[in-house]
Amino acid sequence: MEKRGAAEVIGIDVNSLADCDYPRNFKTEYLSAQPRTVKGLGFAYARRALRSRVQRRILSVYDLSPQTVGTFDFVFMSDLLLHLREPLRALEAIWSVTGGDAIIADAYDPALEATDEPGAIRFIGVLDGYSGLHWWLPTPSALRALLTIARFEDIEEISRFELQTRSRAVPKVVLRARHEARDMA
Ligand SMILES: C[S@@+](CC[C@H](N)C(=O)[O-])C[C@H]1O[C@@H](n2cnc3c(N)ncnc32)[C@H](O)[C@@H]1O
Repeated sequence: MEKRGAAEVIGIDVNSLADCDYPRNFKTEYLSAQPRTVKGLGFAYARRALRSRVQRRILSVYDLSPQTVGTFDFVFMSDLLLHLREPLRALEAIWSVTGGDAIIADAYDPALEATDEPGAIRFIGVLDGYSGLHWWLPTPSALRALLTIARFEDIEEISRFELQTRSRAVPKVVLRARHEARDMA
């Protein structure tokens, strides 16, 4: 976003793995299975290498609000909803800071989309090995419905692709949506 000319860019993340949405009664098991990582090192490295002015703020997506960060012409979120216990609450918070367009890119479930319930959301809640924390996999139309109930308008699918991770290919869908009232102001 900075390279594309944005005057101010902030990125948010939680402070540590312990602040992620683990199932409360299995948090110890999940945390002890995660590789030890220090959050923010990659960001600091990239910021230095690119001589960037992008700010990293320690903030949960749930706590985004005009009071905490202000509002932004453009908001981008990728690969977060599936890790959240409350994706709708996150989208509502994102809506509150969106001054124009938001782009939401997240994993979806093609198999579920091919069933006779194309608007469904699959509950994952993985417990085997506690390796990853995946709560939900929506269909693209369920994602649209979540955006609609978060009050986004003009929701448009702009692409689908497969994200190649170390272990597998993850189908992703990218949606653009608008906070209409602010955009018209
Ligand atoms: C799969 S990574 C996605 C990273 C990046 N957005 C991307 O697309 O490559 C998920 C990130 O969300 C962060 N995260 C988890 N819970 C969060 C929350 N409640 N608020 C903000 N970030 C969160 C994690 O710490 C992690 O950095």
